[in-house]
Amino acid sequence: MADPLTIRRLYGRSKGHKLRAGQESLVEELLPALSVPEQGAVDSRTLFGDDRPLHFEIGFGAGEHLAFRADLLPDHGFIGAEPFLNGVVGALGHIRDRHLANVRLHMGDALDVLERVPDGALRFVYLLHPDPWPKARHAKRRMINNGPLDLIAAKLAPGGEFRLGTDDPVYCRWAMMVMGGRRDFEWLAESAKDFLTRPGGWPETRYEAKARRQGREVWYFRYRRV
Ligand SMILES: C[S@@+](CC[C@H](N)C(=O)[O-])C[C@H]1O[C@@H](n2cnc3c(N)ncnc32)[C@H](O)[C@@H]1O
Repeated sequence: MADPLTIRRLYGRSKGHKLRAGQESLVEELLPALSVPEQGAVDSRTLFGDDRPLHFEIGFGAGEHLAFRADLLPDHGFIGAEPFLNGVVGALGHIRDRHLANVRLHMGDALDVLERVPDGALRFVYLLHPDPWPKARHAKRRMINNGPLDLIAAKLAPGGEFRLGTDDPVYCRWAMMVMGGRRDFEWLAESAKDFLTRPGGWPETRYEAKARRQGREVWYFRYRRV
């Protein structure tokens, strides 16, 4: 992607704890079966064999939100991207335990897959607790930047929804500023309650629960693609 506005750098680790035997077999057996193909268009027909509505989660962490949504909407298709192996293993465990047949995964940079989705093909895009890149000189690495947002906007169908959650006050203000400057997204909040309270169908992840335990606030943003 020609994206002068965002430097693509992953934040933190992509490898963590050593996997247990059961987790290794998930990676060796289930992951290849569910992985987004390495080439070609990434659309409903290619992934699921029909024209179901498509959802895309950027940086799904341990996959709790992805699995919850996929379970809630079994006739929809879900694509999740996450470079962190231990997170991918977590998602594979949820997919196995909940017998989900409507999820495809990419272990790596979400933007690499998003680029291959046809324009207007997505109904929902989720970005929950994106890495903060707290230093001002790293601001260009934040996922909320016009480069990635142009891509998200292009891939969402008109009327589609972009959901963003954050527990970082700097990121919250940054996101409001960047999103506020865009004409292609309409903020769906009508009052403060709408972004201070978790909307229905939006489960709490372990990451979010930990943030709250540590005394941090969480903000929930819903934008409609105009
Ligand atoms: C703070 S964690 C939040 C995880 C999860 N969304 C949640 O709410 O529990 C941010 C996640 O984004 C992932 N991430 C960062 N850059 C990414 C990228 N370019 N593509 C996909 N995932 C990315 C990280 O590996 C990490 O798991």
